[in-house]
Amino acid sequence: MRLLENHSLLSYNTFGLAVQARYFFEYEMVSDLQTFLQTDVAKNNALYAVGQGSNLLFTKSFDGVVIHANNNYFELLAEDDNMVLLKVGAGVVWDELVAYCVQRNWYGAENLSLIPGTVGAAPVQNIGAYGVEVKDIIEAVLGVDLQSEVQLLTNEACHFAYRDSIFKKSLEGKFFVTDVVFRLSKNEAYNLNYGDINEALTHYDEISLATVRKAIIAIRESKLPDPKVLGNAGSFFKNPHVSKEKLSSLQQAYPGIPYYQLTEDEVKIPAGWLIEQAGWKGKRLGRAAVHDNQALVLVNTGDADGLEILRLSEAICSSVIEQFDIQISPEVIVL
Ligand code: EPU
Repeated sequence: MRLLENHSLLSYNTFGLAVQARYFFEYEMVSDLQTFLQTDVAKNNALYAVGQGSNLLFTKSFDGVVIHANNNYFELLAEDDNMVLLKVGAGVVWDELVAYCVQRNWYGAENLSLIPGTVGAAPVQNIGAYGVEVKDIIEAVLGVDLQSEVQLLTNEACHFAYRDSIFKKSLEGKFFVTDVVFRLSKNEAYNLNYGDINEALTHYDEISLATVRKAIIAIRESKLPDPKVLGNAGSFFKNPHVSKEKLSSLQQAYPGIPYYQLTEDEVKIPAGWLIEQAGWKGKRLGRAAVHDNQALVLVNTGDADGLEILRLSEAICSSVIEQFDIQISPEVIVL
């Protein structure tokens, strides 16, 4: 456990922004977090949990306490012929959990390979990729509230939705995820319906957890920049939901417009497509830019500050509204 003052957050945000936290609290034991939350520093300052900061845009230094979990453990809670219940510390790097499950032939996490971030952050924004969301394998989330009480939220109580949960809404800054319990299956079953996976799997002799993981990693590496090389936070925007009528009117002008059916009346349009059509792919504004291979990803080309990246995102939103009359909104949390 340690409490630091004026601590650099450069290695705690994947945009690579040179911001600081007024206080930085790091814990290994949940009891230390409980004790800390009773101190004056905790009671008199804004609190925010940060894992690797892979979904955050800091527009300024954080004038409060950044809470960082460093409890890196895996604990098998229960097991039968069909499934395991695995409890994992919030500090574990997300992809290490995926690798751990794949090695043991436990099904469910493989499509979420190589998503940056930590286990504690995964439920906050209900991370998702290639037809799977983390809510599909979460049994419960444990954490500590502002009264220092340990709470367990069942999957249902987390109010998971597309890149959203209760932790991003009413519990933001008031509840700190310490552990997540996952339910993984021992029965062989794959989720291969998402566009590119089947094509990527043709490069391997068999379909197994290991090859699905490899295929997903290959797709991600071909499209998404490595934050260690080029600062970014994955998809900057959510894919907007529009009505069937809106889609029909767009199809008049853009017959090839891609979309995913959500319900009978609603579809999801890839924001990356809208941004590319609006002419932003590969464009720069100051030291912020739109990635060359995936228009949904904004990158820090060097020493950009958070406001430059925010300005770029606002300019993109205005262009998309002007051209399509569709409001896109950030998936990334802007602080
Ligand atoms: N597209 C373009 N131009 C672009 C990018 C995309 O035209 O520059 C179009 C293409 O038609 C493509 C379609 O958009 O077929 C969808 O693109 P892609 O499969 O790359 O997925 P996405 O909608 O861009 C979403 C998630 C990603 C996730 C992938 C795969 C959101 C906001 N993003 O991206 O999540 O990895 O699907 O499941 O839902 C993240 O959240 O950070 C993230 C990377």
